[in-house]
This record gives sequence, structure tokens and C-alpha cells, in this order.
Amino acid sequence: MEEKTVYTTKEAAKYLGISTATIYRMEKQGLISSTKTPGGQRRFSRENIEKYLKESQNFEAPQNPSRFKKTDFMIREAEATYVAKPIALQTDELFFHTDSIWIYNADILKTNSINENSIDLIVTSPPYNLDIKYNSHDDTMSYDDYLSFTREWLTQCYKFIKDDGRFCLNIPLDKNKGGQQSVCADITTIAKQIGFKYHSTIIWNEQNISRRTAWGSWLSATAPYVIAPVEVIVVLYKKEWKKTSGSRKSDITKKEFMEWTNGVWNFSGESKKRVGHPAPFPVELPRRCIKLFSFVGDSVLDPFLGSGSTLLACLQTGREGVGVDIDKKYCELTKSRLLTEGQINQLKFDVAVGGK
Ligand SMILES: C[S@@+](CC[C@H](N)C(=O)[O-])C[C@H]1O[C@@H](n2cnc3c(N)ncnc32)[C@H](O)[C@@H]1O
Repeated sequence: MEEKTVYTTKEAAKYLGISTATIYRMEKQGLISSTKTPGGQRRFSRENIEKYLKESQNFEAPQNPSRFKKTDFMIREAEATYVAKPIALQTDELFFHTDSIWIYNADILKTNSINENSIDLIVTSPPYNLDIKYNSHDDTMSYDDYLSFTREWLTQCYKFIKDDGRFCLNIPLDKNKGGQQSVCADITTIAKQIGFKYHSTIIWNEQNISRRTAWGSWLSATAPYVIAPVEVIVVLYKKEWKKTSGSRKSDITKKEFMEWTNGVWNFSGESKKRVGHPAPFPVELPRRCIKLFSFVGDSVLDPFLGSGSTLLACLQTGREGVGVDIDKKYCELTKSRLLTEGQINQLKFDVAVGGK
């Protein structure tokens, strides 16, 4: 049979193992180009699709390049394993959605809006139990209660991710206020008890030591306080580290790959005032996790959505994003950031959501 040289949008999306919405977005970002028929329909040449595939594979593993070479068989296999949407649309919890983004106003401990084994990557930062004034969450639990809460939501997340799903968990290294605690070690231990496998830990150096107020015994060995002005991103996975599902398209550049696989990340935190949330992380954090650990078109969940930074990173990178927050005002904040910073089309999606 003669090989096709020109593809419709639907055919090109199928060929790449991604949704048509993603292909439109990629075109807008200049990642792939099309021509138009006299009737205004897009057409993608095989040459352009192959060019995109080649450019998106710009990382060549030095030790064994052939392992990473795409073959027709791999593309077909990727299409065959491409799964259904991660979410349920028929639920009261749905606050807002576009064709690739879903926001749920729900308690992550109780929600049943997310399908089991449907998520490729979770990127999140849970409440740290540091007396942050959230609207709907009490951030002053006893440490034991905090660890029980952690066990509950981690158990939920374990159900949601696929067998080759990954999990980037942004948490503090330790806690100094109200008694020293090894937060990172304790949460990692709980995650492993639930079934998660440990992969690595990234140190995020926020480059902000001005927050420091406690020194303990100043200039004395009596009881000094040692504080590392960093947070961590613990990288876990469900069963298999090697990704076998999804589009197999990576969009990370060589420079990003080289820089980000060095596990000390240096970039500034986000301003609470600018964003309007008491504890946001910068979009740069989920953006790096997404590009490093997921394929184009993958589904990404943030169970503690806050101001929606993870969903903005999903928009920027052509991933499907699902976010959950217990507080309606934060869901509203996320929606408004998607409309402004993310520049999604308000009119189009207000109609789709039915004015919620
Ligand atoms: C540390 S903030 C997340 C900030 C987010 N990464 C950002 O960039 O804005 C934690 C969020 O978890 C939400 N939250 C707390 N308990 C929750 C629960 N049980 N289910 C869903 N969301 C919850 C809070 O309302 C808060 O917005």
C-alpha cells in the first residue's frame, strides 16, 4: 500500500499519539507546521510530522543511541497503549474544564472523579502543616495527624497513577518550628509502605535565606539551629520506572536535560502576593518535572492544585492536566490564571462548561 504523505489534523494527531487539541497548541507554539486547503482545513505533511518527531527526540543517550530510536513499530505500540481520559465528566465536583484541562473542587481524600490507573505523572506540593492560613484546610495538625493525613492522600494517589506512572512530590526537607521533624524521610517511608518505589531526590534551592529567623543559641554550641534553605522534590513511581505508555514524544532540549538531571535545581520561589495564594510554587517547578518525566500528551495530576501552577505548566507543554483543590476560591483563582497567564479562550470554554 502506498504510504500517506498528507494528513488531516485528526490523522496527524493519531499518528503522533496525541489529541487534536494538543496538536493545535503545538502548532501555535511553532513546534509543528501545517498548510491550509482552499476551504481552510489544516493539512500536515508527513515530512513535517517526521521533522517534529526528529526534533523532539533531540536527546541522544550517549551509551546506547539505538535504544531511543523511534521505529514504526514503536509508534504503533504507543498508539495501542494510549489510554482513555483520566477523568469523569459527569460529576458535581467538576468546576471547570477545557479540552485538555480539568479542575475539580473536591477533597482529594474522598473524590471519585479521577479514574484509577489513568495518570502518567503527579506533580504536587501538599500542605506542609506550618500554620499557613488556607481558606479551607487546617494547617496546624499534630505531627501524628499530619502523617495520617499524608498516608490517606498518598494511598489515593497510588490508585490514580498507571503502573509506569511517576510522582514528583515537593515537600520540606525537615521541620524546625514546633519541634524538629524529619519530614522528607517520614513521608518517603510512608510512600514506600503504600507501595511507591523510590527513584531519587531533587534538591530545590530557592535561593532565599532571608526568611531565616531562628538561630537557637547564637554563637554558642549550647543548642544552635541548623537550617538548610532548600525544599526537596522526591521522585517516586508505581511499579516500573521505564515508561511504556504514552506518545513516546519527549520535548526536552539537550540543554534542559543536561541541566535538570543534575539534582540540585536553582530557581526562585513564587510571590504569594503576585499569585494571590498563601503557598504557591513557581510554574518552573512543575514545568521541569513534566518535561523531564512525561511524554507530550501525557496526563498530569496535581491533587493540591492551589493557584493552578501545575495546570499552567501543562498548558505550556501540551500535557493533559487535572487539578483538585478543596477550596472553591482557589479553583476560581486557577481558572482566572489559565484565562490570563495561560491565555485560554474564555468564550469557547464558558460555553463548554455551561457557565459554572
Ligand atoms: C501548598 S498548597 C498548593 C500550592 C500549589 N502548588 C500552587 O502552586 O499554588 C496546598 C493546597 O492544597 C489544598 N488542600 C488542602 N487539603 C486538601 C484536600 N483534602 N483536598 C484537596 N485540596 C486540599 C489547599 O486548599 C491548598 O490550596
